Amino acid sequence: IRRKKKTVIDHPRVASYAFCFDIDGVILRGPDTIPEASKALKMLGGENKYNITVPSIFVTNGGGKPESARATDLSKRLGVNITPEQIIQGHTPMKDLVNVYSSVLVVGGVGNVCRNVAESYGFKNVYTPLDILKWNPAVTPYHDLTEEEKVAARAVDFSKISIEAILVFADSRNWAADQQIILELLLSKNGVMGTECTTYDEGPSIYFAHSDFIWATNYKLSRYGMGALQVSIAALYREHTGHELKVNRFGKPQKGTFKFANKVLAHWRQGVLDDHLKKLSIDDPNSHEADILINEQGEEIINQAKLESYNYDSDEDSSEGEFKEPLAVVGKEDKITLELPPASTVYFVGDTPESDIRFANSHDSSWHSILVKTGVYKDGTVPKYTPKYLCENVLEAVKYAIEREH
Ligand code: G3P
Ligand code: MG
Repeated sequence: IRRKKKTVIDHPRVASYAFCFDIDGVILRGPDTIPEASKALKMLGGENKYNITVPSIFVTNGGGKPESARATDLSKRLGVNITPEQIIQGHTPMKDLVNVYSSVLVVGGVGNVCRNVAESYGFKNVYTPLDILKWNPAVTPYHDLTEEEKVAARAVDFSKISIEAILVFADSRNWAADQQIILELLLSKNGVMGTECTTYDEGPSIYFAHSDFIWATNYKLSRYGMGALQVSIAALYREHTGHELKVNRFGKPQKGTFKFANKVLAHWRQGVLDDHLKKLSIDDPNSHEADILINEQGEEIINQAKLESYNYDSDEDSSEGEFKEPLAVVGKEDKITLELPPASTVYFVGDTPESDIRFANSHDSSWHSILVKTGVYKDGTVPKYTPKYLCENVLEAVKYAIEREH
């Protein structure tokens, strides 16, 4: 380890901690934006008294649209730039199934949107319940396809197709038809419509993007969600077969989604830091000369965690303490890439104890759960999973975390 003089810029800085937001009940209620959300996101973007940018991502159990559409919508509503890389929806981690199944039935959402999302993930043969109804309207006796649905549906002969997996991507718009089709396939031989298995284990696997029993909309009381559909399908299956249905679950509070979120967050934090480094120039009025630590490989050591990973042997007067936050460093090099350590703390703001608080509390002690009162959780009740902090809304959550860190 040696030391050299360099121009460093203390501002703007990127925080070593990070944020992760639930969407429904924290940022939105149905079509409405929660009023404090915009200010909260702007504070994390740098509008705070510490001039610090706090990397943040969104993990919603919702879905039914591409991540890019969700990002555009949130950007408009909140007045901040949000990109698709910051968004994890309930169905986003289903990307990992692309090479597992060659033909899937995608359930939920409006028209062809979920089919399009699945195809954008790389799924090859993606069918919808509407395709099945077009093939044979008698599958559901009391639903006639609307003109719009006829346009969305594709012509497929389902007596010749073997559906390998049912992926419930988003909330069903037609529980009766979707349940009828899902049950038929689960009880089929190899996922072929019109067939019946004898052993109850010959049908396709079923995956749900999440298991929220209720969720917060713009109605006064919470509404049934995909978890309620899951309960209903499992009950019908049990009644029909006497067996328990095996269900695969994504979304919060599942561990798979947590791992996925950590990967996305790490990537996003790295990008935020790289972006800051690119924008900085030595002409910045906030720049000044400072000591920089250089390791044996000639790399600059610019944050505490990285500093600690080296056998630091100081023979000069600078103390380790001043390297607490990743400092932006400007030098002669065109590009400085940093390998970031994990976020020191991830503040997770949610409204549903059973999915959000459980998610943040269960998998990693560096996640700090915050429960807000703008969604499913009702003030005055005892949450089933205890948050580390309880507050009115998302803005209070952000202020609390920033003050706690500084
Ligand atoms: O359908 C969406 C809902 O169940 C929950 O969304 O953003 O609260 O995880 P979110
Ligand atoms: Mg929520």
